[in-house]
Amino acid sequence: MLWTSLLPAFLAVVPAFAQDIILNSAHNATPISGTWSSGSKAVSTGSGFANALNQTFIYPKNTGVSYSFTDDGFYEIARYRFNSNGSEPTCITGVMNWVHGTYDLLGNGSIVMTPFGDGYQQIQDPCGAVSNFIEIYNQTEMYQSWRVFLDPTDGPKLHLFQFDGSPVAPQFQLSATPNMLPTRALRNVTTVTAASKRSLTKRSAGERSWSPAGVVALVVSLGTACAASIIL
Ligand SMILES: *[C@@H]1O[C@H](CO)[C@@H](O)[C@H](O)[C@H]1NC(C)=O
Ligand SMILES: *[C@@H]1O[C@H](CO)[C@@H](O)[C@H](O)[C@H]1NC(C)=O
Ligand SMILES: *[C@@H]1O[C@H](CO)[C@@H](O)[C@H](O)[C@H]1NC(C)=O
Ligand SMILES: *[C@@H]1O[C@H](CO)[C@@H](O)[C@H](O)[C@H]1NC(C)=O
Ligand SMILES: *[C@@H]1O[C@H](CO)[C@@H](O)[C@H](O)[C@H]1NC(C)=O
Repeated sequence: MLWTSLLPAFLAVVPAFAQDIILNSAHNATPISGTWSSGSKAVSTGSGFANALNQTFIYPKNTGVSYSFTDDGFYEIARYRFNSNGSEPTCITGVMNWVHGTYDLLGNGSIVMTPFGDGYQQIQDPCGAVSNFIEIYNQTEMYQSWRVFLDPTDGPKLHLFQFDGSPVAPQFQLSATPNMLPTRALRNVTTVTAASKRSLTKRSAGERSWSPAGVVALVVSLGTACAASIIL
């Protein structure tokens, strides 16, 4: 079973979430483990997206997000999106983002994802002072809640709600067995090197980096069809 195979440190809270997280059709139809992908399913975690060793990306055909979870506490996220700016419609920023680490399912239904430190993202901004750069991404992410619904045609569908309650685009299950890169740090990243190496580009990253607001923008851009299914 899912819960009994989680990390030992986590066992202390088993009674709490055994009570609170109920796997049934009204709540979470399946466990969260597996690989999930939004929209056209073009984005997937695993070796087809990130080369963590040399910090490069393989660009998917379409934008989207993908999350993977093992049943023993590891996660990986792959995200690709475009940001547009109403006041500068020609300045479309592309962001590729990859991160992995360990996650905790809290008793109150929230999820905390703690990165290993080797996450990174590539920002492409034709109008920026630096139009294309890569920077470290090592953000701990808190999701207020999650739900898996059974879609009659598409099967299990994962809905994640961010720390502020805003939804991540709904994700279909690509596979029940997660497709992920090895679940450990794949590069040695020292905070000092990262800071000094990246200081030049840091200022120009700013709000174009991955942020909850950006995720909302992605959801909005996917259209009202998605918004409608989020409410379900
Ligand atoms: C990065 O690594 C991948 C996988 O080994 C390789 O295919 C790619 O050519 C490398 N890219 C650069 C810029 O070194
Ligand atoms: C849009 O562009 C304007 C002008 O450069 C800038 O002030 C604003 O912060 C940008 N908004 C976003 C969301 O990037
Ligand atoms: C990445 O974030 C985690 C969690 O906050 C922290 O433990 C780790 O030291 C960070 N790694 C780097 C390289 O900054
Ligand atoms: C669950 O607990 C965590 C840690 O105390 C907290 O940050 C989070 O907001 C809580 N979630 C909900 C839905 O109350
Ligand atoms: C990181 O550095 C340590 C110590 O030099 C080494 O043992 C380890 O294999 C390195 N890890 C990676 C992912 O390169």
